[in-house]
Amino acid sequence: MKIYAHRGASKYAPENTMPAFELAQKLGADGIELDLQLTKDQVPVIFHDENVRRTTNGTGFIKDYTLKELKTLDAGYRFSKHYQNTRILSFEEFLDWFADTNLLLNAELKTNVFDYPNIEERVLFLIEKYNVKKRTTISSFNHNTIKRVRDLDSNINLGWLTKRAIANIDQFLKQIGANQIHINKRLLFSKMIRTIINNQIPFRVYTVNQISFLKRSMQLNAEGIFTDIPDKMKKYIR
Ligand code: G3P
Repeated sequence: MKIYAHRGASKYAPENTMPAFELAQKLGADGIELDLQLTKDQVPVIFHDENVRRTTNGTGFIKDYTLKELKTLDAGYRFSKHYQNTRILSFEEFLDWFADTNLLLNAELKTNVFDYPNIEERVLFLIEKYNVKKRTTISSFNHNTIKRVRDLDSNINLGWLTKRAIANIDQFLKQIGANQIHINKRLLFSKMIRTIINNQIPFRVYTVNQISFLKRSMQLNAEGIFTDIPDKMKKYIR
C-alpha cells in the first residue's frame, strides 16, 4: 500500500509548499498529494482552498491573482514563524523538482467551486513536458473534470474523489472514465466498499491519520492512503 503525503507532510510544514514536499520525501513517503487551481493568468498553481485567506497573509480568490501577485504572499508564516517567507508554488516549479525524484504524484484538480477553463489541458501538458505521466495520478471531486481528462488522455491514471457512497459505483466510474476511486475514510465501512472490492477497483483513502483507519485500509487492500503524517504511517506498516 502506497503512502501519499497529503498536501506534503502537512502536519509538520505548511501545506502544499516546497518545505512540505521535501519533508515528505525525507520522511519516506511513497508519493505526494497536492491540489491544483488556475491563476488569473491561467497558470496551474498548488493551493488547496479557493481563497488564500486561511494559509497566507492575503485575501481573495486564487483565480483573481496573477502568478506574480501570488508570489508576493507568505504561505508559511501562519503555520509557524520558522516557515515565514515560504512562497506559493506553480505546478511547473514543483515538477522541476519532482522530475528528479522517485516519488509518485497525486494531483487533485480543484474544480468543485470554480470551473477553471482548460485546467485539464494545462496540467496534462506539464505532466508530458516533464515526462512524469507513468508515476502520476490525476484526481477530482468533479466528475466533469474526470471526463475531460479522460477525453484528452486515454491512459493516465485517473481517480474520482468522493465523500459519499453512490449506487452502482462500478458503472459510474466506467461512464466518467476513472480507473480508480478515492474515498473518504468513513466509506471504508459502507456498502459501496464491497462493490469496489468485488469489482477489483483500485481505491485510495483520505485522510488517514489514525491507526484504526490505516488498519482497515490495509485489511481491505487499499492501493494507497493520503496522510498528513507519512512517517508514522510508514513506520506502522513496516
Ligand atoms: O486527494 C485526497 C484529499 O486531499 C481530498 O480531500 O479536501 O484534502 O482535497 P481534500
